[in-house]
Amino acid sequence: MVTISATPSSRSGADYLRLANASTASGQPSPNQSLLPLSARVNAHDHLEVGGCDVKALVEQYGSPLYILDETTLRTACQQYRDALKQYYAGPTLAIYASKAWNCWAVDAIVKQEGLGIDVVSGGELFTAIKAGFSAEQTYFHGNNKSREELLLALEMGCNIVADNWLELRTLAELAQARAQSGETKPVPVMLRFTPGIECHTHEYIRTGHLDSKFGFDPEQQQAVFEFLSQQPQLRCIGLHAHIGSQIFELQPHHDLAEVLVRAFGEAQAHGLPVSQLNVGGGLGIRYTESDDPPSIETWVKQVCDALTAACEAHGLALPQLICEPGRSLIASACVTAYTIGSQKEVPGIRKYITVDGGMSDNPRPITYESVYRAIVANRMSAPQTETVTVAGKHCESGDVLIKDAQLPPTEPGDILVVLGTGAYNYSMSSNYNRLTRPAGVLVQGGEAEVFLERETYADLIRFDRLPERLSR
Ligand SMILES: Cc1ncc(COP(=O)(O)O)c(C=O)c1O
Repeated sequence: MVTISATPSSRSGADYLRLANASTASGQPSPNQSLLPLSARVNAHDHLEVGGCDVKALVEQYGSPLYILDETTLRTACQQYRDALKQYYAGPTLAIYASKAWNCWAVDAIVKQEGLGIDVVSGGELFTAIKAGFSAEQTYFHGNNKSREELLLALEMGCNIVADNWLELRTLAELAQARAQSGETKPVPVMLRFTPGIECHTHEYIRTGHLDSKFGFDPEQQQAVFEFLSQQPQLRCIGLHAHIGSQIFELQPHHDLAEVLVRAFGEAQAHGLPVSQLNVGGGLGIRYTESDDPPSIETWVKQVCDALTAACEAHGLALPQLICEPGRSLIASACVTAYTIGSQKEVPGIRKYITVDGGMSDNPRPITYESVYRAIVANRMSAPQTETVTVAGKHCESGDVLIKDAQLPPTEPGDILVVLGTGAYNYSMSSNYNRLTRPAGVLVQGGEAEVFLERETYADLIRFDRLPERLSR
């Protein structure tokens, strides 16, 4: 692995470019181990370039803040999941994109072109996936409180439904029964989500596999659920699912999960259920800072494949279809957010603030999870990072801080600050807090940039506002 050797104060933004990793068997860097998009370069103007496009020029043309999405990085990550699954598993496989990380038309369309399936968690995500052309078989509908309307949309599409709890399972049975009575002959494909009881080291808000989780059936409910499903001819139980959490660097929990899932798989078969798929969830972490050291996509996939193969062998079971559903590790490092630096404030002896023209509305992760990010000044890439500053957003909220104690070169109003690794859970968790308009997004590749998300306008902000008649009298 290439590491940064310079001390923080003599390091420049350009040094972050060296944080690529060439340790995979294929010799190709694993996107989740790279701080910057794979296409990032410093050009002759000492500016950051992504996808062959000068970031300063992109901001001049498309405005600020700006999400800049590198198509090459996203496609490479998709290909690495797909290829590694094929290489390390003897049975059928499918990588599906956990689109909660960033669900929009263009992102979904790229993932679909790369041959992945998709996981959605709401009617809105499902609607967007359908718009992007995903087939019913490639689509998995998650969620711990799907509404009746959402279930009806899923049934109409015919996609796979990941049942999370008893209410949902009973509602599904009722809806499927009604469909059968009106002549529908195809049973509804249902997957079951279980809480596997596996702990992993990540923020408690993004940990889902431990027993005290709002997601999935408890292990003690397993037998009753299998029995219920074995008496529902309108519901076809296609497989089992579990997800242990997000931003995980350890491999052991994924190994343990394989054993838990395979044991449950054997039980399901013993109940006569036609299960053929095991979905191990997502969770592989990414490098947000130079000290983060996640395994590569290939290493993670190999671990999952080996663990599942060994567990099946141990239990004397044929290999099921292996499904995994990464989100963050597919898209996080493909995107950077460019901001324009504005006001600065020095609190003597305490800290220096520099403020950007966005913040918690376009990236709510720092205020929600205390997530740590790195940033560089895109128009002065080789300038030494001699200052320690706090990068604040422009929202009326003291906690609206994007990066505490960032190492940056001295900056001036108008400089372009680029926050790295913003592809996952940024746009998808964004808001209009303080009535800020959401940034535009541009897709970059080979020196070309195209808008895939229009910048919101003030008119968009009041699109759904209505003035009750008595107020206008
Ligand atoms: C059920 C499920 N699958 C997959 C994912 C994706 O996880 P990650 O983005 O860490 O890969 C999540 C994220 O929370 C999830 O809840």
